[in-house]
Amino acid sequence: PALEYGLDAPFAVEYHDSLPSTNARARELAAEGATDAVVVADEQTGGRGRLDRGWSSPPGGIWLSMLSRPSIAPARAPLYTLAGAVATARAVRSAGVDARIKWPNDVVLTGDESTDYRKLAGVLTEMEGEADRIGWLIVGVGLNANVDSGELSEGATTLRELVGDVDRRAVVHELLSEFDALRGDLEGVVPAWRELTATIGRCVRVDAPGGAVVGRAVDVTDSGGLVIETGERRETVAAGDCEHLR
Ligand code: BTN
Repeated sequence: PALEYGLDAPFAVEYHDSLPSTNARARELAAEGATDAVVVADEQTGGRGRLDRGWSSPPGGIWLSMLSRPSIAPARAPLYTLAGAVATARAVRSAGVDARIKWPNDVVLTGDESTDYRKLAGVLTEMEGEADRIGWLIVGVGLNANVDSGELSEGATTLRELVGDVDRRAVVHELLSEFDALRGDLEGVVPAWRELTATIGRCVRVDAPGGAVVGRAVDVTDSGGLVIETGERRETVAAGDCEHLR
């Protein structure tokens, strides 16, 4: 396949020119008992995003899924998602783009004063396990690399648009080695995330399952929740859509 780059990676890497979804393919590998496997596709025909959305995945992007079987408590699984966002942001930064992370795990381009961040990449994690043990965990990363933003949803930007086409081999290699290092040092994930985020310190509105929370984002918890100061008190939201207000 076009993407076959013979990487020396800490994962067994499988390449496809086209797949419905690399996360779905990684789930098949998980069912077969695989671990430390990565699936990369040049194009996805049924890419999936967070909150049951679709994910446009034309040829030229970096669409990949990393399968692990971590022996950690399921409550710590969100650290893997944060690690995916940190690894992606670092890989993008090594390609020369000043990207930051918007909670929970969007890699965005931040303007000076603007809150109108354009999105470069997103992370979708899926896992299976029991209350005390994770069976498998898949971190899926969609990174708009060598594609035109006109092919993507509104508000998206791409590496092509920002710095021209990149060597996807180098970017994927950087991403996989950063992710591997982070999963080997889970204590370091939240500090690394904090260093790269654009959300802490901002006024935000999060549409969480229990209703909208508006206030100043002050921290992220060990399980990836966003701590928001609403005036009277601090609230932690575990998941939701976050808008930066100012
Ligand atoms: C988001 O909504 O921000 C997350 C997008 C995640 C997209 C990636 S592309 C590779 C992997 N396979 C999928 O179907 N989705 C993820």
